[in-house]
Amino acid sequence: MPNSAAVDAALNAADANIETSLERLFDLLRIKSISTDPAFNAETRKAGEVLVEQLAALGFDSSLRDTPGHPMVVAHHEGPEGAPHVLFYGHYDVQPVDPIELWDTPPFEPHIAEVNGAKRVYARGSSDDKGQLLTFIEACRAWKDTAGSLPCRVTVFLEGEEESGSPSLYDFLEEAKDELKADIALVCDTSMWNADTPAITTTLRGMAAGEITIQAASRDLHSGHYGGAAANPIHVLTKIMADLHAEDGSVTLEGFYDGVEEVPEDVKRSWEALDFSTAEFLGEIGLSMPAGEANRSVLEQTWSRPTAEINGIDGGYTGDGFKTVIAAKASAKFSCRLVGTQDPQKVMAAMRKHIDERLPEDCTAEIAEYGMGPATQLPWDMPHLTAARQALTEEWGTETALIGSGGSIPVVGNFKRQLGMNSLLVGFALDSDAIHSPNEKYELKSYHKGIRSWVRILDALADVTG
Ligand code: BES
Ligand code: MN
Ligand code: MN
Repeated sequence: MPNSAAVDAALNAADANIETSLERLFDLLRIKSISTDPAFNAETRKAGEVLVEQLAALGFDSSLRDTPGHPMVVAHHEGPEGAPHVLFYGHYDVQPVDPIELWDTPPFEPHIAEVNGAKRVYARGSSDDKGQLLTFIEACRAWKDTAGSLPCRVTVFLEGEEESGSPSLYDFLEEAKDELKADIALVCDTSMWNADTPAITTTLRGMAAGEITIQAASRDLHSGHYGGAAANPIHVLTKIMADLHAEDGSVTLEGFYDGVEEVPEDVKRSWEALDFSTAEFLGEIGLSMPAGEANRSVLEQTWSRPTAEINGIDGGYTGDGFKTVIAAKASAKFSCRLVGTQDPQKVMAAMRKHIDERLPEDCTAEIAEYGMGPATQLPWDMPHLTAARQALTEEWGTETALIGSGGSIPVVGNFKRQLGMNSLLVGFALDSDAIHSPNEKYELKSYHKGIRSWVRILDALADVTG
């Protein structure tokens, strides 16, 4: 039974305690938990430790679990007899801060600024994902402070390697299967539809990422002495990468579109009803013209179509001034976003073939593989989704949107395949939060109403059976 007096009490506590909730967020944001850079290993661990302490103080049986990489946080809290068991997931690591010169204030000195009447928390990780994960923990606090208990049995599982490809995740989940398997996973690492409209994300793109290095001569060369005769690996690399796309924007890799299906009509209609403005979406980042596959809407391009993107390119002389050199090698980092049932291994094999077929005499190519994982499609008819949707709609006073996402959250696929568990993706980020970019921020409204939303969702999930 929904217990509205208890919900109201917990909501009031969330409101009354927002200042101390913010202090706890600031404490976490000051920790430089950049997981990809070994120089920050100790700080990354520290972020995990702080969260273990916060959860222990709330009455969770809470511990830090070592892995070959960064540690995992696992914390258990009992629930009422017969209530569902939910597994909350978030990540306490953050992206590197470069280019640091583009930050208006230091990335690990969180502060609040008011823009157009809305207060925002500026710091690396404020939105992705420290602010988001704390919305859930603070909601548990509101319940504990008022009811003295939680409406569901709750396990909190926090990762410190999400931003660096989750290298320890698979093995950890295999070992901790029995401990972590729950009725549903709750993931707070996605966006709202817009600043006033909450959303549940039902599709995520997968990924096949790597780095290709082309080697030609045995050393860097004088471009006058050897130019015209020596193979230039930058030319070879850029030609191979340029060949990844056809004139119409489609990807040329062999078999790339196997497993890519057209969006079903009912989903397409619901996306059309979402009132999306291409001009606004692109205008906000200084662009005007969709640049991907021809004859596809931007929502299709980012939610339901796969991509092959070059993320970084390196070779030759890139310092100040000028140097007449032919480099010995050149490299490019790439990532393909995957949809439907596209197979990351097959995409990687096709990439290898694409490169090998175009490799001239005297050149060699090496490919290093980074993150790999298929796309995720969650069912629209899960009772947990229906319950959470209703709770969100009550909190925000407007219908909850069911949306797709162009991003990837690898753990969602692991939960499904390794633990047989579906996920409910509820997040309060905005596209304008500049995640992974300079001047990342989280709206105070996202934080506050995010906490209130989880207070309601926890109550709503308590009634879901099966
Ligand atoms: N929270 C993001 C994923 C995301 C972004 C979801 C935008 C919804 C909207 C997550 O932390 C992330 O950055 N994922 C990486 C995964 C990669 C490092 C394997 C991504 O999508 O690039
Ligand atoms: Mn994230
Ligand atoms: Mn991220």
